[in-house]
Amino acid sequence: MKFFLDTANVDQIKRINDLGLCDGVTTNPSLINKEGRDFKEVVTEIASFVDGPISAEVTSYDYETMVKEAREIAKWADNIVVKIPMTEDGLKAVNTLSKVGIKTNCTLIFSVAQGLMAAKAGATYISPFIGRIDDMGEDGIRLIYDLKTVLDNYGLESEIIAASIRTNKHLEEAAIAGAHIATIPGTLFEKLWTHPLTTQGIESFKKDWDSFIEKTK
Ligand code: G3P
Repeated sequence: MKFFLDTANVDQIKRINDLGLCDGVTTNPSLINKEGRDFKEVVTEIASFVDGPISAEVTSYDYETMVKEAREIAKWADNIVVKIPMTEDGLKAVNTLSKVGIKTNCTLIFSVAQGLMAAKAGATYISPFIGRIDDMGEDGIRLIYDLKTVLDNYGLESEIIAASIRTNKHLEEAAIAGAHIATIPGTLFEKLWTHPLTTQGIESFKKDWDSFIEKTK
C-alpha cells in the first residue's frame, strides 16, 4: 500500500518524507485554505521535494473552466495530478484530460457507481471518502472492498485512494480491503507508529538493562 499525505503543511510533509514513508501528497481547497498560502506556491514547493504524485484540485465546476484550469495546474510540475470533483462536468473533464495525458484524481466518491464511472472516464485515481461515509452512519470500508472488486472484475486501471481517513482502524481496514493508496492526515500519520505497549515495553527493557549493568559492575 502506498502512503500519501493528506495535507498542504510543508513542515509535516518534510518530516514524514524524511522517514521515507511519503509516496505522494493530496491537497484540496480546504487544506490549502488552512495553510493560508498562495495555492501555486505551496503546491510547487511540495512538488519540488516529494518524489511522487501531488494532487491539486480545480476550483471551478463547469467543464470548460475545469479543463482550462487543469491544463494550467498540470504545468506547475511533472508530478502534478489534477483533482476533479465527481460531477457530470467532472466526468467529462476527466475523460478529456486523460486523453491528453494529464493525470487525474476523481474526488468526492461516495458510491460504487460513482467510482466505476470515474474509472471508465479514465481517472488515474479515484478517491472514496471513508470517514464522511461513516459520518452518515454507513460503512466507508465496505465501499473500498466493493470498488476494489469492481475494478478487478473489469480490469480497470484506476488506483483507489482511500481518503477521509480519520483513525488507525480506517487505515488498517483500507489496507486489508485492498486500497492501492491511503491518504493520511499528517496528525494521524504520527499516531500510526506509536502503541502504548511499545512505549511500555521500551521502558521496561530500559529499566531491566540498567539493573543488569548495576549488578554486573
Ligand atoms: O482527501 C480528502 C480528505 O481531505 C477529506 O477528509 O476528514 O475532511 O473528510 P475529511
